[in-house]
Amino acid sequence: MMSYDPAFQNTASCRSRVTFIDGDKGILRYRGYPIEQLAEHSTFTETAYLLLNGELPTAAELESWEAELGGHAPLPEGIKSLLDGFQPDAHPMGVFLSSVGALSTYYPDAKQIFDDENRRIQVARLIAKAPAIGAYSYRHANGLPYVDPDSSLGFAGRFLGMLFGEPGAPYTPDPVLERALDILFILHADHEQNCSTSAMRGIGSSQADPFASMAGAAAALYGPLHGGANEAVLRMLAAIGSVDNVPDFIKKVKAGEGRLMGFGHRVYKSYDPRATVIKEQAYRVFEVTGRNPLLDIAIELERIALQDDYFVQRRLYPNVDFYSGLIYEAMGFKPAMFTVLFAIGRAPGWIAQWQEMLRDKAQKIARPRQIYLGAGERDYVPMDQR
Ligand code: CMC
Repeated sequence: MMSYDPAFQNTASCRSRVTFIDGDKGILRYRGYPIEQLAEHSTFTETAYLLLNGELPTAAELESWEAELGGHAPLPEGIKSLLDGFQPDAHPMGVFLSSVGALSTYYPDAKQIFDDENRRIQVARLIAKAPAIGAYSYRHANGLPYVDPDSSLGFAGRFLGMLFGEPGAPYTPDPVLERALDILFILHADHEQNCSTSAMRGIGSSQADPFASMAGAAAALYGPLHGGANEAVLRMLAAIGSVDNVPDFIKKVKAGEGRLMGFGHRVYKSYDPRATVIKEQAYRVFEVTGRNPLLDIAIELERIALQDDYFVQRRLYPNVDFYSGLIYEAMGFKPAMFTVLFAIGRAPGWIAQWQEMLRDKAQKIARPRQIYLGAGERDYVPMDQR
């Protein structure tokens, strides 16, 4: 007996204790803690610890975890040379996933995935180095020299320094922007068995090392139906151009000529709770950066879509990607960088899920079955008879 369930719409592939989602009620919890409370009170590094270890850290545990992340933040020189080899217009996600994969060659000890202490080091390396890879790909694309990570800054501030600072000069991040970025990382940190996490678990199930597995997860995130949607939203808003063009655009979407990017979700059939927090943050960020002119188009799209039968009947609501790109753009990121920001935030979730899979005695190598519909047996046809 086999079940046929394309895209695993109704198949649970694992038992998990990491993240809970109730898509009908718009609930998201990491290890039991509501996302709204974590966004308000926690930090990204604390949330990462929670996802990885199951409990919030004590003050001493958090201090030591943050020091560890600071220590692992620099990239090996060889990875910087690798980054130099990419075309300046290379998509940052292509650069990101290649560089994460390349780290596997620097840390061959990462293959000891069942050695708890060894795995702990690799996990810290992955989470700590992801921002440096993202920032250096941005600097490379803009022809700017790399800025080394400053271990005296927090996670988000250190990332902003590597992006927008000057080599050798101290960098002070704007506290509102630093906090907004930290919150965005928290909101993206895990989302149970989504496409990229399933990729991470699937690759990891072959006992590949975590760098190789995370490179695969990042590749899955790259696509426009997943993490690439935030970039697609900004391109869509720019193409719409003005609030007056919104009704026409909605008409086209309803006629099947393209999708309203940043809307809809496989699991959420009500407002994505992350979108609510991001919308609030957008207003805070715009007080510092100035209002993003595309915001008005986004608000009008949301207003019309939420009362239109097409979207109401299909239960399509704004998802995490609808407003995040507007904040990123206001902070100075180009759309091509948006998915890299998603990946940096998602790293702890990918790794927490991967660790859970490794420790789960019920798990084996991922290997779905198929229903074969191809040709029956036939004899090979020589070239001159085809
Ligand atoms: N715009 C217009 N119609 C839509 C949209 C949309 N954004 N999303 C779904 N639909 C329609 C779809 O055409 C279908 O209609 P019908 O029943 O008439 O054929 C119905 O709604 C169900 O759609 P589906 O494609 O079967 O749903 P799915 O669960 O396979 O897809 C999704 C989920 C997120 C891929 C999809 O909603 C989508 O493409 N959204 C736009 C891209 C996007 O914003 N992605 C980010 C997701 S959140 C971040 C993340 O987790 O990566």
